[in-house]
Amino acid sequence: MNLKDKVALVTGSARGTGFAHAMELLRNGVKHVAMLDLATSPGTESANKLNMEFGQGRAIFVICDVTKADEFEAAFAKTVKEFGGIDIVINNAGILNESNWKLMINVDLNAVVQGTMLGMKYMGKNSGGKGGVIVNISSAAGIDPSAWYPVYVAAKHGVIGLTRSFGLPYHHEKTGVRIMALCPGVVTDTAMGEDGGHDLGPFVDYELALKDIRTQSIQKPEVVAKALVEIIQQGRSGSVWISEGEESVTEVFIPDRFTLIASSRKQHYSDI
Ligand SMILES: NC(=O)c1ccc[n+]([C@@H]2O[C@H](COP(=O)([O-])OP(=O)(O)OC[C@H]3O[C@@H](n4cnc5c(N)ncnc54)[C@H](O)[C@@H]3O)[C@@H](O)[C@H]2O)c1
Repeated sequence: MNLKDKVALVTGSARGTGFAHAMELLRNGVKHVAMLDLATSPGTESANKLNMEFGQGRAIFVICDVTKADEFEAAFAKTVKEFGGIDIVINNAGILNESNWKLMINVDLNAVVQGTMLGMKYMGKNSGGKGGVIVNISSAAGIDPSAWYPVYVAAKHGVIGLTRSFGLPYHHEKTGVRIMALCPGVVTDTAMGEDGGHDLGPFVDYELALKDIRTQSIQKPEVVAKALVEIIQQGRSGSVWISEGEESVTEVFIPDRFTLIASSRKQHYSDI
């Protein structure tokens, strides 16, 4: 996809990686970005910052709690009304709160399901749209297990399963919407990535968890945002990508169960 003059909608973009995504999209030619975030977020200041840098009217802040179905749909409708359509949807909003795990599943998984369905509805060729791209933000925790945030892991694994399934040719051929997942490494340098942004719940030893988390490679949000632009331009529907440390963005090939079983058997026989 050529990003020039496209319209993007990014959830959770008042700060952190979402803000870096909005900025990088504008830098690469996107005409308008709708920045969805909570009423309590610094969304107005963040949109102003982008308008100062890229020109007035390029970014708007739309108050939207993605866990509220009516607000989320209204934000899509507002974006279409303001900018005439939507070409790119980034389901980025996320929290890490193992104590309030039901809210976390609502934000990190249920809202990504809804954002994906809204993206297909508003951009799908089969529903009057022009096609487009959806990128769902998962995590390295969407691929590996972790003792430190098991429910976050479950939600982020869910995002990958959802994306690989809606990304299959059956849907893509009907809608013309490419759907991909991007997994930032475990520690991206944002408020969520800082110690204060975590609530790891009652089951883990915080000191031990943080000591281990700090051994992971850290990447800047700007690196993840560059990865996002690269996959929007050339990733295939259903693909899963990881952006970790300073490495370039890499596609992760997840084998089907037959390949996994065959390799387990091979391992079993080579062990005896
Ligand atoms: N920081 C990391 O280490 C890391 C690593 C891998 C993946 N991720 C993922 O990247 C994404 C962005 O995380 P970040 O590090 O930029 O975090 P962040 O906390 O800096 O930003 C998250 C944004 O989401 C918004 N948000 C939270 N709940 C919302 C809701 N209900 N409705 C709308 N907006 C809401 C927040 O207000 C905030 O602006 C998340 O999906 C996160 O899971 C982060």
